[in-house]
Amino acid sequence: MRTVHDIPTLHNVPVLVSAPLNEPIENNEVSSDFRLRRTLPTIEFLSRAGAKVIVCGHIGRAPTETLEPVYRAIAKHIPHATFSPVAIGPQARASVRELHSGDVLVLENLRRYSGETKNSPEFARELASLADVFVQDAFDTAHREHASIVGVPTFLPSYAGILFDQEVHELSSALTPKHSALAIIGGAKFSTKEPVLKKLLSVYDHVVVGGALANDFLSAKGYSMGASLMSGADTSVINNLLANERLVIPSDVIVAPLQGKPIASRVSALNSIEPAEAVLDSGPDTNQYIETLVQNAKTILWNGPLGHYESGFTEGTRSLAKAISQSSARSIVGGGDTITAIEELGIAENFSFISTGGGAMLSFLTHGTLPGIEALNKSI
Ligand code: 3PG
Ligand code: MG
Repeated sequence: MRTVHDIPTLHNVPVLVSAPLNEPIENNEVSSDFRLRRTLPTIEFLSRAGAKVIVCGHIGRAPTETLEPVYRAIAKHIPHATFSPVAIGPQARASVRELHSGDVLVLENLRRYSGETKNSPEFARELASLADVFVQDAFDTAHREHASIVGVPTFLPSYAGILFDQEVHELSSALTPKHSALAIIGGAKFSTKEPVLKKLLSVYDHVVVGGALANDFLSAKGYSMGASLMSGADTSVINNLLANERLVIPSDVIVAPLQGKPIASRVSALNSIEPAEAVLDSGPDTNQYIETLVQNAKTILWNGPLGHYESGFTEGTRSLAKAISQSSARSIVGGGDTITAIEELGIAENFSFISTGGGAMLSFLTHGTLPGIEALNKSI
């Protein structure tokens, strides 16, 4: 993969940078600048080399959302950065014409344009027309076949940004781990996680399934799951995975009735979940067993919480985060709630690599590549 360091000339060259700008917003301000901090080296490198840097990206899912708060967060690091309220068209081109060497312009949310998510060639061509060179740093979105991911590289010579290159390098190394290798996959939605579970079972010595994902496995084992969130996964698919002795499922759980306040949670054995109760976190025996696996591992890969994190069931996820932070294993982690837990505990520097990708990380681990990587490799 070609990277920013391979771009022949940068001085006075307009460079379009696709960056991971999809940050959480609270009260119109960026509440965590985790992704931004990781892409700043790419933007600053291009600016220092004298390029005219045009930053684009997306925020949220609704086409009404604005990148303005993210622009203000960028401006805290790069005070001379400016904002364009449109991403394409005459006004955007005029803003680009005003740029001088080293300037940074942030374009409005690409998902305001349906051509972005539809990967329309017209939209990709319009966006590409703003620059002479394209740099891809939005690893978090590289699993999407959107115009700014796969379309623009068909029109411009394209290169990986510093973050993007590092993500591919680190996650590739996770596919050839040092043994004993431990993978932990949590969160929900079995259908989106099944391919990565299959892949990891062929590479890792232990694959722990946690979070709501584990409910389908426990149900297939014959336990009554009460009011727990289920994916409705195919039992024969689940049973196939369960037959693999590398797969680890919870041995006890935290349950609570979904109705009534305060929510009275309790530790439960797998065979005593009441019909009105839902599994909301991993239990103490499970957490302790996972900790033993962590202590014996040389490589640890982790994506997804072990409990319903956003409703306060944080114990399983936090105890896992702490255990990994104290281990000397190579640790590669990612996913929204996983990163939130690590940041809340203030232990981020104890992890070898924290991916900016959630779904993109899982997709890369499954396939060893992503549409965004292929687009760079095929680019003119
Ligand atoms: C993410 O937050 O997972 C990435 O930024 C991708 O966003 P998306 O799921 O809306 O495509
Ligand atoms: Mg996502």
